[in-house]
Amino acid sequence: MRSVISLLGAFIAAAVFQTGSCVETVIGLYGETIEVPCNNGNNKPDGLIFTKWKYVKDDGSPGDLLVKQAQKDEATVSATDGYKSRVSIAANSSLLITQGSLVDQRVFTCMVVSLTNLKEYSVEVKVYKKPSAPVIKNKAKELENGKLTQLGECVAESANPAAYLIWMKNNQPLVDDGKTIIITSAITKDPATGLSRTSSRLQYTASKEDVESQFICTANHVMGPDQVSEPETFPIHYPTEKVSLQVVSQSPIREGDDVTLKCQADGNPPPTSFNFNIKGKKVTVTDKDVYTLTGITRADTGVYKCSLLDNDVMESTQMVTVSFLDVSLTPTGKVLKRLGEKLEVSLEKNASTEAKVTWSKDNRKLDELPDFSKLTYSDAGLYVCDVSIEGIKRSLSFELTVEGGPKIMSLTKRRSNDGKHKILTCEAEGSPKPDVQWSVNGTNDETSYFNGKATYKLTVVPSKNLTVSCHVTNKLGYDSRDISVFSLFEEHKSKPEKNEHGAEQAKVIVGVVVGLFLAAALVGLIYWLYIKKTRQGTWKTGEKETGTSEESKKLEENNHKADV
Ligand SMILES: *[C@@H]1O[C@H](CO)[C@@H](O)[C@H](O)[C@H]1NC(C)=O
Ligand SMILES: *[C@@H]1O[C@H](CO)[C@@H](O)[C@H](O)[C@H]1NC(C)=O
Ligand SMILES: *[C@@H]1O[C@H](CO)[C@@H](O)[C@H](O)[C@H]1NC(C)=O
Ligand SMILES: *[C@@H]1O[C@H](CO)[C@@H](O)[C@H](O)[C@H]1NC(C)=O
Repeated sequence: MRSVISLLGAFIAAAVFQTGSCVETVIGLYGETIEVPCNNGNNKPDGLIFTKWKYVKDDGSPGDLLVKQAQKDEATVSATDGYKSRVSIAANSSLLITQGSLVDQRVFTCMVVSLTNLKEYSVEVKVYKKPSAPVIKNKAKELENGKLTQLGECVAESANPAAYLIWMKNNQPLVDDGKTIIITSAITKDPATGLSRTSSRLQYTASKEDVESQFICTANHVMGPDQVSEPETFPIHYPTEKVSLQVVSQSPIREGDDVTLKCQADGNPPPTSFNFNIKGKKVTVTDKDVYTLTGITRADTGVYKCSLLDNDVMESTQMVTVSFLDVSLTPTGKVLKRLGEKLEVSLEKNASTEAKVTWSKDNRKLDELPDFSKLTYSDAGLYVCDVSIEGIKRSLSFELTVEGGPKIMSLTKRRSNDGKHKILTCEAEGSPKPDVQWSVNGTNDETSYFNGKATYKLTVVPSKNLTVSCHVTNKLGYDSRDISVFSLFEEHKSKPEKNEHGAEQAKVIVGVVVGLFLAAALVGLIYWLYIKKTRQGTWKTGEKETGTSEESKKLEENNHKADV
C-alpha cells in the first residue's frame, strides 16, 4: 500500500522532471469539472490569433480538443471522442472538462498562436477520489485464545490514488510481526472506472484480555482526514483450565435440606453439560450446571465431584457434611416422686459436632442439673433441656412433682398490733398442698403455699382460755398440733400489772403502792418488835420470798404474752 503511494510519488516526480519546469500539475476531482489552466492565465499575447487545446491519445496519435479564434466568441470543438461533449474553454483560456474521471489523467497542451509567436504550455492533470468509508467484512464470529485467526477484512472502495488502510486495536496501530499479527493488503482496480479498492486482511492471535478490545480499520488518503470503520469486538474462546464445584446451599446443611451442587468451568464459551459424581455414582446433566440432592440425610455425607463431559481430568471435589442431632431424655413428661426419693436423669445425644447443652428450671437458667438423690419439695418444677449444634436446636423437658404427707413444722401465736386479736400461724410441709382445719372459728384466714411449704394464718378473739388445734391433711396423710391461747379479756384485766416494764407511769404507781405497803409493814413491824422485844434479822428475807413468788408468777404470764 505504502509502496503504491511511493511509486505514485516517484512517478509524479519523474513526470515533473521529464517535462521540465514548464509542466505544471493540476488536481481535479473525480466526477467534477476539471479546470486545466493555460500558462496560469497569462495567455493573451498581442496579435493573438487563436488558442488551441490538444492532447496525445493513448495510441500516440494527436488528439485535438477545441480551437478558439481570438476574434470569435465561441470555440470550435474538434474532438470526436469522449471529450466531444465534455470540453469547453473559459474566458481566461482554461480548458474545462466536465465529469472528470481517471481517463483525464494525462498531459493537456494549450497552444497559443499569435502573429509573432507560437507557444505551447503543457499541464498534467491528476484526478483524485476519496475512498468510501472503510468497512470490516468477513468478520470472525469469535477469536480463539492463543490461536492465529482471521479477524476480518477491511475494505475501502473507489479511491484514487488507492487508500492506505491501518488496523487499530484500542486506538493503537497493529503492526505485522509475521507471527501473531499478519496483515495482508491488496489493491485492485475497477476495470471500468480505474478506481482502486484497497483491502487489508488481519490475522490476529487473541489473548483472553482481548474480550475487551476494540478493533477498527482506518483509511488514510491524500484527499482528506482519516476515515474509520465501525468498531468491532469479538468473543474470545478458550478452553477450560479449571472446574469448580460449589455447594450452593446455606451452611450448615441439615438433614431434610435440599442441597444444590453447582459446577462451573472457566472456559469460554462455558461448557453447558457436566458429569456429577454423587458419592461414586456418575450423573450427567445436560444444558445445566446444577444437580440437586433433595431431602439429604446424614448418610449423604461424603465427597462429591463434578467434571467436564469430555475431560474427566478436569474435575473439582467438595466435601458435603450433613449436620444431625439426635437427643433422648429420660425421663420426659410428667414425673411424680415422693419426698426423699431419688430421680435419675439421663440425656443421650448423638450429633455431627459437639453439642451444647443448657438446662433451665421454670424458665430460669441452671448452671447444672441439681442433685436429685434425695428429692425435696423445692426440686419440683418444669425442667427444660436445650441441646444445640450450629443450625439445629432440640428442646426436651420433664415436669417433676414431689409429693409428701403433711407435716406441721410450727404452730405459733402472737397478738395483733392493735392488741385486739390473736393471730395463729400454722406452718406445714406437704404436697399436694394440705388442707387445713382449725378447731376454732376465726377470721381473715390466709394461706400461702410455696415449695411444698404451706402457711396458714387465723385471726381469733378468744373470750376464754382455749386450746386451739391446727389439723392439716392431704391425700397422703395428716398431721395435727395444739396450742394454748389465753383469754384476751383476762389479759386486759391484768394488763396494768403486767405492763410493769412497759409503762413508766405504771412502774411509778406500783412503786408508790409498794412504798406505802412497805411503810405500813415497817410501822407494823416496829410495833410488833416493840411488843415482842425480840431481835431478829430474817424478817426482810421472808418479805422478799413472798414478793419473789408473786413476781415470778407475773413474769411467767408476761413471758406467755411475749410468746403470743
Ligand atoms: C479562469 O477563470 C475561471 C472562472 O471562469 C477562474 O475560476 C480561474 O481561476 C481562472 N484561471 C486562472 C488561471 O486565472
Ligand atoms: C450416632 O449416629 C451415627 C450416624 O447415624 C451412628 O452411626 C451411630 O451409631 C450413632 N451413635 C449412637 C451412640 O447412637
Ligand atoms: C363456728 O361457727 C359456726 C357457724 O358460724 C357454728 O355452727 C359453729 O358451732 C362454730 N364453732 C365453734 C367451735 O364455735
Ligand atoms: C386463764 O388462764 C390463766 C393462766 O393459767 C389464769 O390465770 C386465768 O384465770 C384463766 N382465765 C380463765 C377465764 O379461765
